[in-house]
Amino acid sequence: MSRIFLIGFMGCGKTTLGRKLATRLNYTFYDLDHLLEEQAGMSVAEYFSSFGETAFRLAESEVLKNTAYAENAVISTGGGLPCFFDNMDWMKAHGTTLYIKLSPKTLASRLEHGKEERPLLRHKHGDELIAFISDKLAERESYYLQAQVVADGLSLTAEKVMEILSKQKL
Ligand code: S3P
Repeated sequence: MSRIFLIGFMGCGKTTLGRKLATRLNYTFYDLDHLLEEQAGMSVAEYFSSFGETAFRLAESEVLKNTAYAENAVISTGGGLPCFFDNMDWMKAHGTTLYIKLSPKTLASRLEHGKEERPLLRHKHGDELIAFISDKLAERESYYLQAQVVADGLSLTAEKVMEILSKQKL
């Protein structure tokens, strides 16, 4: 059994890379935000505005723990998920966690487009966006860094991840 949880800040490439990695490994791909949206019948942005962040954190933790994953799976998680409840420990107990690490500047340039569907980033631009990401990342990194594997997210490919994972004594 092999389950790989991809974690990291919004915009670090969890979903894009996760999909490619799953294809290369012939594993099943799961996107937890997407599963939550399917189950709730609304987008993450709508969920936040209807029920608030606290309810969202509970719901995403339930999706994480209650999904019937295939034996071999690549799972892309929401950027805040590892930082709430015992989610990080749960993922480590049920698979391998891989943190895709990128600087606030790189994240900001990737997030300048695609902010609208992310409720935490809406209406933030330029320097304000970079400052927000720096603060949030500083808050969250102690969780992200608990991952069994930390990978530099710059030009990270599915092949590179496979190579890194094959060298891990897990
Ligand atoms: C969030 C990240 C989002 C989504 C929600 C909250 C966060 O997922 O779960 O908007 O708190 O960082 P992505 O990291 O896939 O954008």
